Amino acid sequence: MQNDLNIPTHIAIILDGNGRWAKKRGMPRVYGHRKGAYNISNIAQYADEIGIKVMSIYCFSTENWSRPGDEVTYLMKLPIRYFSRYKEKIKNSNIKVIFSGRRDHVSEKLNTLMDEIVELTKDHVGLILNICFDYGSRDELVRAIKNIANDIISNKITISDIDTKLINSYLDTKNLPDVDLLIRTSGEQRISNFLLWQIAYAELYFTDVLWPDFDKIELDKAIISYSNRNRRFGGLKEK
Ligand code: IPE
Ligand code: IPE
Ligand code: MG
Repeated sequence: MQNDLNIPTHIAIILDGNGRWAKKRGMPRVYGHRKGAYNISNIAQYADEIGIKVMSIYCFSTENWSRPGDEVTYLMKLPIRYFSRYKEKIKNSNIKVIFSGRRDHVSEKLNTLMDEIVELTKDHVGLILNICFDYGSRDELVRAIKNIANDIISNKITISDIDTKLINSYLDTKNLPDVDLLIRTSGEQRISNFLLWQIAYAELYFTDVLWPDFDKIELDKAIISYSNRNRRFGGLKEK
């Protein structure tokens, strides 16, 4: 990694292509999911080393429930296996884990484990790893709007308090800065309901590389591309 690069504070990754990666190898789709899950820790570790502050990863969307039952069952069990196996490693790392997404459709076992991982890493000062699981941006916004309405009814806030800062504070990603760089692997060029509010001014980076093959070199390439962008935020700033 060159040291004159502009490192994004918050990167978000739509980790796509696990199924195709497995299929290319004549293996069942879930084989790709397993490989993909283990890749998350490698990339998070590297992101921490190069000074990225926040990494949001899209692991299961609110729309992914519509996949075949056996794939969904596997995807629900995978984080349980993963966290159980890596609990000690996560505890001894620098990474602080948080979760975004619904908690009411996942098993009690997974909920307990998620809470445990958050608690174990809450004082860590390195990369914040925001794991988006059963996450959908529209769902997040609907929940936020309901909570805002409830707080108005119960006189905690008034309508005139509503501004972008207040809306931010009702999102699952409250306390996180906006996304600077959004990466999607596997060649698809769409957002698929990920962090719609938070990516308002993110730079977008699409690569054909499938998620299980996305390594440090690929992250470097994304950051080099980001570093060469001229972010104007609606203004006229020259590079
Ligand atoms: C991304 O890989 C992981 C999840 C959405 C859970 P996919 O499972 O979407 O893989 P492809 O896109 O079918 O190859
Ligand atoms: C987006 O990938 C969701 C996750 C990466 C978790 P999908 O593979 O589900 O998205 P579509 O269906 O191609 O838009
Ligand atoms: Mg996909």
